[in-house]
Amino acid sequence: MTTRELTTVCVIGAGTMGRGIAQIALAAGHSVALVDPDSAQLHAAATDIGSRLARRHPDVAGRLGELLHTHTAVADAAVGPRTLVIEAVLESLAVKTDVLSSAAEHFGAQAILATNTSSLSVTEIAAGTPTPERVVGMHFFNPVPVMRLVEVVRGVQTDPDVADEVADLAVAWGKDVARVRSAPGFIVNRVARGFYGEALRLVEEQVTDPATIDAVVRGAGQFRMGPFELMDLIGNDVNAAVTRSVWTAFNFDPRFEPSRIQDELVAAGRYGRKRGQGFYSYAEGATPPRSTPVAPAGRPLQVVSGRGSSQLDSFLVRAGVEVEHDPQSEPGVVLLDDTVVRITRGRTAQEESAALGGAPVVLVDRVLSPDDASAVAVATSAGTGDTLGQLATILGDAGVSVHEVADAPGLVLARTLAVIINEAWETALHGVASPDDIDVAMQLGTNYPSGPFEWTRRWGQADVLELVDGLWSAYHDTRYRASRRLRLPT
Ligand code: NAI
Repeated sequence: MTTRELTTVCVIGAGTMGRGIAQIALAAGHSVALVDPDSAQLHAAATDIGSRLARRHPDVAGRLGELLHTHTAVADAAVGPRTLVIEAVLESLAVKTDVLSSAAEHFGAQAILATNTSSLSVTEIAAGTPTPERVVGMHFFNPVPVMRLVEVVRGVQTDPDVADEVADLAVAWGKDVARVRSAPGFIVNRVARGFYGEALRLVEEQVTDPATIDAVVRGAGQFRMGPFELMDLIGNDVNAAVTRSVWTAFNFDPRFEPSRIQDELVAAGRYGRKRGQGFYSYAEGATPPRSTPVAPAGRPLQVVSGRGSSQLDSFLVRAGVEVEHDPQSEPGVVLLDDTVVRITRGRTAQEESAALGGAPVVLVDRVLSPDDASAVAVATSAGTGDTLGQLATILGDAGVSVHEVADAPGLVLARTLAVIINEAWETALHGVASPDDIDVAMQLGTNYPSGPFEWTRRWGQADVLELVDGLWSAYHDTRYRASRRLRLPT
């Protein structure tokens, strides 16, 4: 039986997700039964689907009366030779198992039962139905017609052929598929936790403020949005609930620990954009807080570059700075007069300075792509004098703004991405998904500029491990235990 023979699609739940799923199934040529006990919701969904299809698929919109059938009970839907059921009802184990069990009874043992759950266990949902081997996760992202990713999730009892069939079908609908074994948060909601969690910790520890973190993550990492802008857009209530659900499902592992400052914000009703106030204010006329970059302050007399700091050297080339080369110097170090400038490796500037017998040190955050970076975080040890202003002059000529933060290990982007990369390697180590599927999922599910395994290739596995181990030695918190796979040779 091929995917094309699964001609009838039954979508249960006519809310935000159900509408999007029904729309793309119709656009791909299926006839769709849409089920929801709320008839007003069904009516609104049909109108919505019709008007959205009219724009890009007028032929399908013209035949909607024939292709889309709405029902207030699944028992009223026509039974074809075999049906793909996709449920998008509210996020409740009891409701989902009930709905899928009724569908199994109505459509027969050949039906495939897909769940769009974002946080429940596919294994547990399947176990509550009469045909657990035919239950599979089909995790779409909102808005469904726009977001390309579908996580296809296998529960313990899912028949591999069923997962294959659903994956093929999603591809035929124009989606990219990441295959996942049922585990909390699947790929995206698990691996992305560090993006928010590290940013929240930096603010909680008063290393810097949300506006500076957002500016650095955008400018140093080419992310479309910084973590605080994104949390405000998603809704702090929703974001905190996902964190708490992943944390709980992982038996309160500190890697996923919720943030007290985000919980406080939620308690205050500051959910983000939808409430007019989150980390930032969205009130009429409110000016968004901006990070104040370090002001340029002259140039150093001498710039000496040692061996192999591709990031600092690339900044110096971009700035057109005349550099003396010293092959004897420590790798990855640039000297601005007597001050050592180096890229973070997970220690503080003060620790780096102590290791150099008290020489002044400016630490620079890592960037993802030195040729494209437009902002960077820095921290200083004691005694750096005017060097920060001089660095700001040089990097300003390279088009890179310099943002000073307090001296904490791993600065901003290096710390955040190292934690995300570590989680990605752990996810692969546990066989939840392959590195390629993880990279696809993170790019398409969260709009990251590239995926964590690609970041590892750019920064080097040993350097990422050094960053994670640096965080471990600073905190002695198992949140920062390096994945064993990160220690293994590739
Ligand atoms: P929604 O609240 O917009 O829609 C839920 C719909 O289910 C409502 O129309 C409701 O009347 C209907 N419903 C409730 N009980 C039902 C039943 N017994 N039988 C049939 N229909 C029933 O919710 P939304 O946002 O569409 O989410 C649906 C599912 O998709 C949830 O499991 C959610 O976790 C998941 N999801 C949501 C995403 C999002 O961004 N909104 C993203 C990915 C997954």
